Amino acid sequence: MLARAYRVTDRLDAMNRQFSDEKRRRLRRLDQMSERYLEWLMVEHYQFSKRNPAFLAAAAEATRGFEDPAVAIELDRNFNEERTHAAMYREALRAIGTDVMRRVEFPPTTEFLNQVAQLSSGPPARTLGAMYATETAAIFEHQVFWEISREVVARRVLRWEDTALKAFHDLHLDGVEQSHKDGLSELVERAAARRRGEVAQGAIEAVEAMERWWNQLLGRLR
Ligand SMILES: [Fe+2]
Ligand SMILES: [Fe+2]
Repeated sequence: MLARAYRVTDRLDAMNRQFSDEKRRRLRRLDQMSERYLEWLMVEHYQFSKRNPAFLAAAAEATRGFEDPAVAIELDRNFNEERTHAAMYREALRAIGTDVMRRVEFPPTTEFLNQVAQLSSGPPARTLGAMYATETAAIFEHQVFWEISREVVARRVLRWEDTALKAFHDLHLDGVEQSHKDGLSELVERAAARRRGEVAQGAIEAVEAMERWWNQLLGRLR
């Protein structure tokens, strides 16, 4: 049956893949990028990590009265899993000699975080779509930051295998982010049966915000 063959998450995943594949291509030659630039990328990524629990909590709150109560329950689960992660990330970075507190504000990051804050506290179906898109992109982010971290650690002549930073990214790639994506996937399909436009709109806006932010981050490469 045609209606069963069409999965909105497949379309959203394809859109996300297009965004992330292009960024991945631009991040292929890490060996030609300065340690300072790569460290700066990690510190900017940490800013997202720091705010992420607040986004998830806001999204759980925004979807609390939604027709499908499973959405808020799933977002609460994600929140509980993520709430301690920024501290882990900060300490892991400190252990390789990077202090996230020593940072000059990068306005595009502030703007990006404000956009995600807005998207995670909008109408429930739109919020669900936006969170699905950011959780999908989280897999790509942990993959590229795994590589970036390894490069920085090598420049500092430390053993990658021994770092808490590797363990931090491994933890996320070892199922955490996939389970966040999968957990939301069925809920997106269910919501899209009645509200496809709204769900897709949230996801599209989130990918556009990520695209803009990444272009600004990569635009700083010299
Ligand atoms: Fe996390
Ligand atoms: Fe996640």
